Formats: sequence, C-alpha cells, structure tokens
Amino acid sequence: MSKNGEGGGRRLAVLGSTGSIGRQALEVVERHPSRLEVVALTAHSNLELLREQALRHRPLLLGVTGEEAGRRAQQELAGLGAEVLTGREALEAAASLPQADLVLNAVVGSAGLEATLAALGAGKRLALANKESLVAGGPLVLEALKRGGELIPVDSEHSAVFQCLRGEDPGEVESIILTASGGPFYGRSREELKGVGVNEALAHPTWKMGRKISVDSATLMNKGLEVIEAHFLFGLPYERIEVVAHPQSVIHSMVRFRDGAVMAQLSLPDMRLPISYALSFPERWEPAWRRTDLSGLGGLTFGELDRETFVCLDLAYRAGEAGGSAPAVLNAANEAAVASFLEGRIGFTDIGDIVKAVLERHRPAPLSGLRDVREAEREAAERTAVLIGKR
Ligand SMILES: NC(=O)c1ccc[n+]([C@@H]2O[C@H](COP(=O)([O-])OP(=O)(O)OC[C@H]3O[C@@H](n4cnc5c(N)ncnc54)[C@H](OP(=O)(O)O)[C@@H]3O)[C@@H](O)[C@H]2O)c1
Repeated sequence: MSKNGEGGGRRLAVLGSTGSIGRQALEVVERHPSRLEVVALTAHSNLELLREQALRHRPLLLGVTGEEAGRRAQQELAGLGAEVLTGREALEAAASLPQADLVLNAVVGSAGLEATLAALGAGKRLALANKESLVAGGPLVLEALKRGGELIPVDSEHSAVFQCLRGEDPGEVESIILTASGGPFYGRSREELKGVGVNEALAHPTWKMGRKISVDSATLMNKGLEVIEAHFLFGLPYERIEVVAHPQSVIHSMVRFRDGAVMAQLSLPDMRLPISYALSFPERWEPAWRRTDLSGLGGLTFGELDRETFVCLDLAYRAGEAGGSAPAVLNAANEAAVASFLEGRIGFTDIGDIVKAVLERHRPAPLSGLRDVREAEREAAERTAVLIGKR
C-alpha cells in the first residue's frame, strides 16, 4: 500500500498513539497491514515509544504536544522520513492531514477537543475514544458534524449501542442502558473509600487502561462522562439514558426498544474489538481478537450502582441536564482533581467533593465557540486549585 492511498487501504492518523488506546490501535493496524496504514502519529511526552512506532509504521507526520518533549523532538525524531511538528498545532495538523482518510482521537482529556473539531472540519471519519472532547464541547462537535465528517464511537459502551442501533429506526428507541463494571471499589461504603490509595484505584477488575480513566472508573465519573457522551452521540435526553452495574464487563451496553425488546452486544472485555470495529466500519474484519465462549463465562449479573457513595455519576447527570458550559466545568474540575489525587495531594473521596463544590458555584452559560469552553474550564480549574490547596 502506498501513502498516497493507491493501495486502496484506509490511511489512518493516530492521535495519542503512545497511550493505552493508541498502542492497541497500532496492534489492530499490524493485524491488518493490507487494510490499514498509518500516516500520522502523535504523542505528548513519550518520545522513545513514538520513535519506535515511527520506525515500524513510517508515517508522514509525527506530532509532539508536550512542551518539554517538544524541545527535544526535532533531534530525537530525526532521520525517520517524517515531518515533525510540535505544540497544539501538531494535533490539529495530524487530525486534518490531507493524506488521512480516518482519524483516531485517543488523546486523554479535553485537550483533544481542537483535534476532534479539526478532523470533522476537514471532513474526516473520526474514531473517537477521547470522550472528554464530547463532554466539554458537545454542542460544538454536533455543529461541526452538521457541516461534515463522521463520528464513530470507540468507547466500548458506545460502540455497543452503535452496533445495537445498526439498521434500527431511532424513533423506536425507548432508552439506552450503559453497563458499568462498578470499578475496583464496587460495593464499598464511603467510610471504606476514605483511605484508599492510588494503586488500589488504578487496579481495575476487568479493564487495563490509562491512569486517568482508571481513576474515573473507580469514582464512577467515567460512567458519568459516558452518559454525557451518549447524550450527544445518540441524541437522547438524559432521563432516557440508564446505567446498570454489570461486574463481568461482558455486556458492553444495551438498547431498550419501545416494544419491550432489549438488544445487547457481548464480548470479552478487550478494547481491541471496539477499536477494530471503529476502524473497519461498516465492515467487520476477521480474525476475531478473542472468541467469546459463553459456556465458560459462568454467569452474568446486574445490580444497582450506589449513587450516594459514588457521587460523581449524579454530578454528571446534573451537569448534563444543566447543559451549556456545565459539562465542561464538571470535566475540568475532575481532570484537575484526578491529577492531584494521582500526585498524592488529595484523597480519593475528595475528588467527588471538590467537583461537586465547583459545579455548585458555576452558573451554566451557552457555548458559542471554543473560547467559551476554554474560559469555563479556566474558571473551573482556578476554583479547583483553591479547593485542592485547602485539603
Ligand atoms: N484505555 C481504555 O481502555 C479506554 C477505554 C475507553 C475510552 N478511553 C478514552 O480514550 C482516551 C485515551 O485513554 P488512554 O487510557 O489511552 O489514555 P493514556 O494511556 O493516558 O494515553 C493518553 C495519550 O494521550 C497523550 N496525551 C496526554 N496528554 C496530552 C495532551 N495534553 N495533549 C495531547 N496528547 C496528550 C499521551 O501521550 P504520552 O503517552 O506521550 O504522554 C498518550 O498518547 C481517553 O479519553 C479515555 O477516556 C480509554
């Protein structure tokens, strides 16, 4: 296959290629060398891995967004035959690269929003793992989508819903049911959560993921962000987005139809399947990553989530319903609080308490552009920093 697309395969830009999703996406590419070819890769800090990936995949463009890594990038990524760009523009350039047919946004945090908008603005098919860009800037993303581009979800829950909705009339959907493993602290009381450490929070029972999303899964903020993501992706009001605990993470989510039927998508917990589906859509490529042996599964169970102990889920519903800048504020406060927790500066239960306090002081305003998102985030980050300082 040639980088100018003459070989007929899909040319892919991977934003955040050094992360958990990015690395798994490159495994998918390596499994389908005649179908997928990498034309751009970006990283934030990990130049060593980016260099290794570039040697393997020979992209046209390498982007480095981190300041410190950016200073070393030209030298350390020399001789690879790729153009090297640094700073925020690098992400947008990779997202809108003319030689890319398909863009995977696997950046962590709302720093991914500009790239989401740039990819859609350039009319690309965007495989979106970066849920924070939909949470922070959902209305802007929907506006961009009206003008062009295409959005395919990568998050396993949204991929499941997307698959269940294929060929269905959206008017016949009663609700979406997002499943939640419950995270490592499922069933614990608030008292039991007070002293939990970083390593315990990172030890997810069913998924191996990046650090930020692992903490979000432990607080249930991840499920909250996914509720907001589902609202924007599938256009349903919040009261028609349900969540249910499902500790085995085999049913990735469901759709309830108005005749009472509930459709589910099942597979073993392995992100390479939803990544692969987002890259192969509307096709399905074999071989399967892991076959789901139903008789070996034992049982599938469901339960309620404890929304009083895990306050973040309700905070997300509240922010989503308030709309406008509120979800951006929720997300920014959460990003700052999680970073502080990971640095050992605040406790686990402080995350939800701080996000709640920041959200309560915010007066939601409509978002008319990226600048409004960044302004709301700046205000939220300042308030969060003050509250963190008081802990
Ligand atoms: N991991 C999962 O299983 C999973 C499942 C569903 C959804 N997601 C979503 O996918 C996204 C990525 O998650 P992850 O677990 O793969 O995260 P991760 O392992 O922390 O990787 C994040 C990637 O983004 C880069 N990055 C970090 N900060 C950045 C910034 N400010 N600007 C641009 N790039 C930056 C990192 O570069 P360096 O490594 O070079 O620093 C890395 O390539 C998140 O939105 C997450 O919610 C993840």
